[in-house]
Amino acid sequence: MLLAIESSCDDTSASVCKNGKILSNFIANQTVHEKYGGVVPELASRAHMQNIVPVVDVALQQAGVSLSELDGIAFTQSPGLIGALLVGSQFAKSLALALDKPLIAVHHMQAHVLANLIPERKPSFPFLCLTVSGGHTQIVVANNANDLKVIGETLDDAAGEAFDKSAKMLGLPYPGGPLVDKYAKDGNPTRFKFAEPQIADLDFSFSGLKTSILYFLQKEVKANEHFIQGNLTDLCASIQYTIINILLKKYKKAALQTGITDLCIAGGVSANTGLRKGFEKMCNQNEWQSFIPAFEYCTDNAAMIAITAYHKYLVKDFSPLSVTASARANW
Ligand code: KG4
Ligand code: ZN
Repeated sequence: MLLAIESSCDDTSASVCKNGKILSNFIANQTVHEKYGGVVPELASRAHMQNIVPVVDVALQQAGVSLSELDGIAFTQSPGLIGALLVGSQFAKSLALALDKPLIAVHHMQAHVLANLIPERKPSFPFLCLTVSGGHTQIVVANNANDLKVIGETLDDAAGEAFDKSAKMLGLPYPGGPLVDKYAKDGNPTRFKFAEPQIADLDFSFSGLKTSILYFLQKEVKANEHFIQGNLTDLCASIQYTIINILLKKYKKAALQTGITDLCIAGGVSANTGLRKGFEKMCNQNEWQSFIPAFEYCTDNAAMIAITAYHKYLVKDFSPLSVTASARANW
């Protein structure tokens, strides 16, 4: 029985897992950031401090498990906001020390990939994963649960940032990704065309798209100040369509290059309806197997930390109490 804690950004989450099966996954979202148009690190740390004890309590209660039954304590060690990570890591270390149980430090990006091992139907190794979140865009080869290799990543903005920054330009509140998704459903995805970047190999870039959207909007709004309000659904649909195209083109290239036929998506942006549909279509057309985590395991959650901790537990990959949280972490 493992307890896992996730506190890398603006969600405080705790999960209990038994032999790789998730018994609970409780998430407290922080609403304090909404009015600032982005996550305010200091406010996130404070909210984690307030949330962590009740969140862990609820996760244990929902799983019907007491502290004495735990065999290990896992936490997100990196990457993320340092103050936010420190709250989860200090809590986990204290608990591991008090209970005299192993401590398991988990890499947030590995956890997003391994969220695909939570459901009954799992990909077989080696599999590919396109991890798309607010902070990262990566194509990863998973040779086994503890051997992941990044074969492509963004050179600038992450896919989630591309969604959120575009949404901000459209006057939508943070985080704008889910709202773009919502409005895109009623819009025409080919109405507006935005330049797609020409980046070598399997890497991505989204900063050019951001600039191209900005200049386009500035020009149109100058001619008609109601341009955005009048075309919101088509704008959202077209922006979403462009981002998905950029992502899936590279993902297809990765699958063809590696010859791997089990493909997953993960991370907050994998909650996007258009991406999920486009990804499944691409896999069907090429006779690849597609895997998408349930919505609650796409955005930040502790269940993905728990499943990763389970695979580390199996190979006794424990951390000393001297382990420290780290804002950045390279693979
Ligand atoms: O994985 P995540 O919860 O946190 C990070 O580790 O970054 O990802 C958050 C990102 C945000 O940029 C948010 O706008 C985006 O995921 N996101 C979406 C959707 N749901 C969340 N983007 C597009 N469509 C969605 N439905
Ligand atoms: Zn994340």
